[in-house]
Amino acid sequence: MILAIDGPAASGKGTLAKRLAAHFGLPHLDTGLLYRGVAMALLDRGDALSDEAAAERAAQVLAPALLDDPRLRERAMGEAASVVAAQPRVRAALIAFQRAFAATPGGAVLDGRDIGTVICPEADVKLFVTASPEVRAMRRALELRTRGQPADEAEILADIRIRDARDAGRADAPLRAAPDAELLDTSDLSIDEVFTKALALIAPAIRDCTHTRA
Ligand code: CDP
Ligand code: CDP
Repeated sequence: MILAIDGPAASGKGTLAKRLAAHFGLPHLDTGLLYRGVAMALLDRGDALSDEAAAERAAQVLAPALLDDPRLRERAMGEAASVVAAQPRVRAALIAFQRAFAATPGGAVLDGRDIGTVICPEADVKLFVTASPEVRAMRRALELRTRGQPADEAEILADIRIRDARDAGRADAPLRAAPDAELLDTSDLSIDEVFTKALALIAPAIRDCTHTRA
């Protein structure tokens, strides 16, 4: 059973993906960390984010162990990740790792931007999680403050708008809902409400899956 959870920054897709993975006992991959990892490797070496050949090499040698680095979660890394993520050679270099993860026996949960459209078009469950930019900025600001980091909500909102436009506007694997994805707007929902709603939305697909495999 493959669950593909896509959506823009701070829509709540990661929180939901983690929760669904725990509920169904499946491994979870936050694919945003891969792009963040490539960006971090370039920044650490002093390479330009626009250097596609260097970014492709970084993607090819990306060690999964690197994905635990707390610096990946920094705000600037999300912004840098979206720059390298627009490069087709970087995306191509990261496909095999993501598909291998999705092929884990028993299934997997992956969250990102293009899981339902490009990485796992055959996923059993596809959710496209959204929320208004204002709500997403508020959530991100709260999250940063909770981690003891400074957070200017207006600045975060501006960043979110730039990142949405870059992710949705790129030619290769743009951020968009797969035609067969269930849409889930979390703007007015708590984390528990999102989880309950997601379970209801995916119940038919889960039933089909269990029957097919029984
Ligand atoms: O957590 P947040 O949504 O802020 O960011 P993320 O999921 O870690 O993704 C960082 C950036 O990586 C995104 O803005 C996208 O440009 C890129 N990304 C992508 O292109 N495809 C994915 N499957 C996941 C992330
Ligand atoms: O993975 P993504 O960037 O889409 O978002 P996230 O990291 O799952 O969620 C961003 C922040 O919003 C986290 O601090 C969540 O706890 C919070 N959140 C929320 O307040 N209400 C929701 N319904 C979902 C997430």
